[in-house]
Amino acid sequence: MSVVDKNRASDEQIEALVEDSIRYVWRHGVSAAATRTGRGPLAVSASGVYVTDMDGNEYLDGLSGGSAAATLGHGRVDVADAVHAQMTTLHWVSLRTFINEPSIELGRRLAGLTDADLQTSFFVSSGSEAVESATQLAKSFHRARGNPGKNMFLYRKTGYHGTTLVGASASDNAEFRTWFAPLAPGFAEVDACYPYRRPDHMTEEEYGDACADALEATILDIGPERIAGILAEAIPAALVLVPPANYLRRLREICDRHDILWIDDEVFIGIGRTGRWFGFEHFGVTPDIVTSSKGITGGYVPLGAALATSRVMETIYGDQASGQAKVSGHTYAAHPTACAAGIAVLDAIEKEDLVGNAERVGEWMIAEFARIYADHPRVGDVRGKGLLIGIELVQDAATRTPFPRESGVGRRVMDRAMENLFMLRATGDVITLFPALVTTMPDARAMVSATCRAIDEVLSEL
Ligand SMILES: Cc1ncc(COP(=O)(O)O)c(C=O)c1O
Repeated sequence: MSVVDKNRASDEQIEALVEDSIRYVWRHGVSAAATRTGRGPLAVSASGVYVTDMDGNEYLDGLSGGSAAATLGHGRVDVADAVHAQMTTLHWVSLRTFINEPSIELGRRLAGLTDADLQTSFFVSSGSEAVESATQLAKSFHRARGNPGKNMFLYRKTGYHGTTLVGASASDNAEFRTWFAPLAPGFAEVDACYPYRRPDHMTEEEYGDACADALEATILDIGPERIAGILAEAIPAALVLVPPANYLRRLREICDRHDILWIDDEVFIGIGRTGRWFGFEHFGVTPDIVTSSKGITGGYVPLGAALATSRVMETIYGDQASGQAKVSGHTYAAHPTACAAGIAVLDAIEKEDLVGNAERVGEWMIAEFARIYADHPRVGDVRGKGLLIGIELVQDAATRTPFPRESGVGRRVMDRAMENLFMLRATGDVITLFPALVTTMPDARAMVSATCRAIDEVLSEL
């Protein structure tokens, strides 16, 4: 039951609540002033793809709750029932002391989602923990093979891999890199593969090859004997960078050539968002370790996982000489209630063919944006896969010239959409949408028109 009852809460009570939220709850990504003037906004309830705030405003949710986790939409009774049943049967016991059935079942289900032999799940409680665990698995793998010197990681420009020290050290996030300094040692940056920003004379395929060549040159520069893995999302979500088909194939070959593990961070895009269970499936390649979170429980209960192939796991399990390989074990690892939520979410996705829905509805939305903005002088690119969609706004589409950074066009579009009761995101001037997998065609039509309204209003004011 909400503490805010619109029929009873006065403006003074609401102001007091907002002031208390500033005092008592640290909020990331939003200034206290913005929270105050925006009266939060304070969400009180949500259903399907709509979120209601304390003033009774209903927001159309193009962001799966804001950070891509609510992939089944809001208010699912089936997931709540599964969580309730698990909580009243066995809410939690430590993995150190007992194994538990929900985690075994969820691990088995995740392993069976693709043909990729991602056999073993290392369950944690967030995406950042999954990324950190993946780096530990990679270090353990190389140590077990007698190569403890292979302990560095590469990550790519514009990438985001989380907010713990390891996540931040593997992220191209200027604020984190400044405020969290000194960062963890052993991380090196390589270029992103950003097809829209490729040199004019290159085809996408030539560009994919050039990016792969540059990656290999960096590896040779650093020394492959020092590198444990590369953290690379199959489709980097922040800027929606769908790579050329050859790029990930080349990345895979390069990793194999130099005994480097590919950690495909699918915290954002995994579990159906791109119209496949995992993003790597679009490219006919298999990573060594895949991280997942958000969609794994649809945001109902926090859960993350690092999934490793049998080759990685058999090497790590085989490290008998030094006892069990050391990978962090959290109190809430393989939390039975979180895993029960995960099973219910997978059941729903399979029963309702939501991966197929993401592909169909997403394809329609991307095609519709491309059609609407085909000749727009300030829309440079429309791109995406399934329900991961990006629209890059530029000062001049003919020359791909970006807006000056200080014009803040992307942020203005995001703010305008919110004023219009629609949730979209901007990373720089790339407008992104990542709606729930349950988005229907009427929802999709409403999202397309709300997106265009916010973009068109802001661009017409420049
Ligand atoms: C690709 C990727 N990796 C890691 C993370 C970190 O996950 P969390 O916020 O659950 O720690 C995120 C979060 O957005 C992400 O998008």
